[in-house]
Amino acid sequence: MSPDADEGYAPPGEPDLLNDDEAYLRVLRSRMPARSQAVIERLNRVNEVYVTCGRDAVLSEAFETFLEDAQSTRHGERKEADIFFLTGESGAGKTDAARRLLRGSELLAPIQTSYGTIRPYVSVKLTGYMLPRIAARKIIAASGHPIKVDTKQGDAWSEMSPALRRRRVVLVHIDEIQHLVTNNSEENKKLADAIKGVSIASEWPVAFLLSGLPGIRVLAKKDEQFERRGNWVHFPDLKMPDEESLVVRILTKMSKAAGLGLGKMSETDMPKRIAHASNYRYARVCQLVRAAIHQALRAKDEPQELLRGHFALAYALRSRARGHNHMNPFLVDDWTQLPRGSFLDVEGPEEDED
Ligand SMILES: Nc1ncnc2c1ncn2[C@@H]1O[C@H](COP(=O)(O)OP(=O)(O)O)[C@@H](O)[C@H]1O
Ligand SMILES: [Mg+2]
Repeated sequence: MSPDADEGYAPPGEPDLLNDDEAYLRVLRSRMPARSQAVIERLNRVNEVYVTCGRDAVLSEAFETFLEDAQSTRHGERKEADIFFLTGESGAGKTDAARRLLRGSELLAPIQTSYGTIRPYVSVKLTGYMLPRIAARKIIAASGHPIKVDTKQGDAWSEMSPALRRRRVVLVHIDEIQHLVTNNSEENKKLADAIKGVSIASEWPVAFLLSGLPGIRVLAKKDEQFERRGNWVHFPDLKMPDEESLVVRILTKMSKAAGLGLGKMSETDMPKRIAHASNYRYARVCQLVRAAIHQALRAKDEPQELLRGHFALAYALRSRARGHNHMNPFLVDDWTQLPRGSFLDVEGPEEDED
């Protein structure tokens, strides 16, 4: 904020640019060229598209069963931990799927009361290596519960159940939980025990949804309780050519939202090229298609159809292939010889895209 900006309220009838985020962003956008504004408007429609496929049905079925189970034993002694794992490689679509799952749950929907809003679940996303006790504090803070400054090491996990009870939270989602997993199996066991402890707390058991890279399986290893209950869903990579139709579905749904045609693209090798460029990750395919659509919407010749060239451009802009056309799977004939992936791919820690 500049020194001369005043923190007061705007006069009636004027947008309150200092306090109203939406109004401020609207004003900023209104200063963009009309063309950009039109592009953003069409892009927003594409952004809203969530392309479901069989795995969403599997996930929602498994999760519903899990919630029924977690609720059914609520008033008895809880002997088994209620923990649900959602795994998949980076760009598989876990974060989006979990968000949709939680928002769509009737059980977990917010309750408006005269004394405030009760939110039956909290969701935290870890973005880098973090000590488990810090993560525990983050969860308690996300529930809206004040954290005592003098909470000692290890205490945050034991304070979690009573804190969440006060806040009426019955489920905790930890996204990208691989950031808590280490190479040290003792540490991993301690973490698994801490989570399990909260989930079977006698007064207020809390269910957990843990999502992350396939490596988070170590949290359940050698623990019969976790393994036996089978609360697992894994989002595998696309299998080509069998699952080519999924790529076609994504192309169809997203281009339609943008008001663009596809011509005969679905009958060409384009779905295969798109899958290859996206490292066979479902959500990455969605991102690539969205980026190509963005290029089509920006194109000066105002195309009516999504074309291969739009993918070539999107790929060049968001990969290491910029200026290296021979590395661009949408520009060469022998694209199968190029390494898979690299559209938005990063090696090592998962990037954050939202
Ligand atoms: N089913 C889907 N339909 C459309 N877009 C999706 C879908 N699943 C994921 N995406 C998009 O793909 C990107 C990556 O997905 P994300 O859920 O963050 O993957 P992950 O958490 O597995 O790395 C996000 O921009 C997200 O909006
Ligand atoms: Mg994610």
